[in-house]
Amino acid sequence: MTLDKELASGMTLSGKRILLIIGGGIAAYKALDLIRRLRERGAAVRVVMTAAAQEFVTTLSAGALSADHVFTDLFDRNDEHDVGHIRLSREADLVVVAPATADLMAKLANGHANDLASIVLIATDKPVLMAPAMNPKMWSHPATRRNRATLQKDAVAFVGPAKGEMAESNEAGEGRMAEPLEIVAAIEALLDISPKPLAGRKIIVTSGPTHEPIDPVRYIANRSSGKQGHAIAAALARLGADVHLVSGPVGIADPADVTTLHVETANEMREAVEQLLPADAAVFVAAVADWRSETSAGEKIKKVAGEGPPALQMIENPDILAGVGHHRKRPSLVVGFAAETQDLVRNAEAKLRKKSADFIVANDVSPESGVMGGDRNRVRIVSKAGVEEWPEMSKDEVATRLAALMAERLKTITV
Ligand code: CTP
Repeated sequence: MTLDKELASGMTLSGKRILLIIGGGIAAYKALDLIRRLRERGAAVRVVMTAAAQEFVTTLSAGALSADHVFTDLFDRNDEHDVGHIRLSREADLVVVAPATADLMAKLANGHANDLASIVLIATDKPVLMAPAMNPKMWSHPATRRNRATLQKDAVAFVGPAKGEMAESNEAGEGRMAEPLEIVAAIEALLDISPKPLAGRKIIVTSGPTHEPIDPVRYIANRSSGKQGHAIAAALARLGADVHLVSGPVGIADPADVTTLHVETANEMREAVEQLLPADAAVFVAAVADWRSETSAGEKIKKVAGEGPPALQMIENPDILAGVGHHRKRPSLVVGFAAETQDLVRNAEAKLRKKSADFIVANDVSPESGVMGGDRNRVRIVSKAGVEEWPEMSKDEVATRLAALMAERLKTITV
């Protein structure tokens, strides 16, 4: 069974009725996948399409996937399926707008009601979730920002948008619609029925770089943003785990519902992780500096004319993952990462053995891959059972899938 099917077998949305409003944007094609994902989980999906949405995807596709009539017109007295916009908006547990265009956001923020989608949105008495998708300039425009703030004040929930390449014009920035699985997770969270297979499990996650001081102002570090590690901590927490994130210095916020400990150096990270043992699982995502300067000067090292640069004597840092992998309090599930620029699988397999991990998430971090600091990742899961290749996806989606895989694995291990 593939991981997707395993995830889906939960039928987490069984009996739930989702009204999906598809707005007009290139991301509309992803709304079709969303219908499929929702139905796989047992939800009944009813679709409303705006006129602009029909320029991007057909009512025929949406109807086939939802197995229901697709609603497009406000006044369609002859339509045998006409249920009236009030009923349409109320006969759902949740209204989802995906893609939510700048226009749909503006309409709801200002109370416009001049087509079926906007009327349904204003007539509903159910929670509304928007997955915005638009050009980055449109997303950052003060008008859109104002509308978003108004909608949030009116209790409209949002998922995304993410940063990344836009389908049009090779433009990059914030504005990509969240991936269908992220929207599903947001729906589950809103309906408060998200499965909590990791409830009662304590999980340690390391994330970000470490900074190894040379003197009070200089340090050795590496290019790690902490995005992937933080996303994994958040995804594990969403599944109910008691997550302890040990983070090196990063420029991103602490994830919600996670206990975050901030450290600077590899030694501090190792100590924090050791203090947190025992745990059910540990995930080592941090890009720990392999070496540090043997000594760190108490005062700033000054340039001295004629003396040339100072020589740094480097010594090896502790391998935190290997230490935990071989620890007498070893968690039942130990997951490492392998950042490689060559021989990805072979190097990952060697790390699996040497560090005594159960899984190694291997990723290509060569400069061409754009992984370091970027929002997307392409990984392989290396274990004793073999190598599973995952398609390129957002770091959030990698995190969601990894958390599901860990939950699956921990299910077989009793507390
Ligand atoms: N790791 C760790 N402590 C270290 C070095 C690495 O916990 N001192 C963990 C990382 O968090 C990651 C895994 O080990 O989960 C592999 O990290 P990576 O940098 O790919 O490998 P290294 O062991 O540093 O080997 P090399 O640099 O030779 O590839």
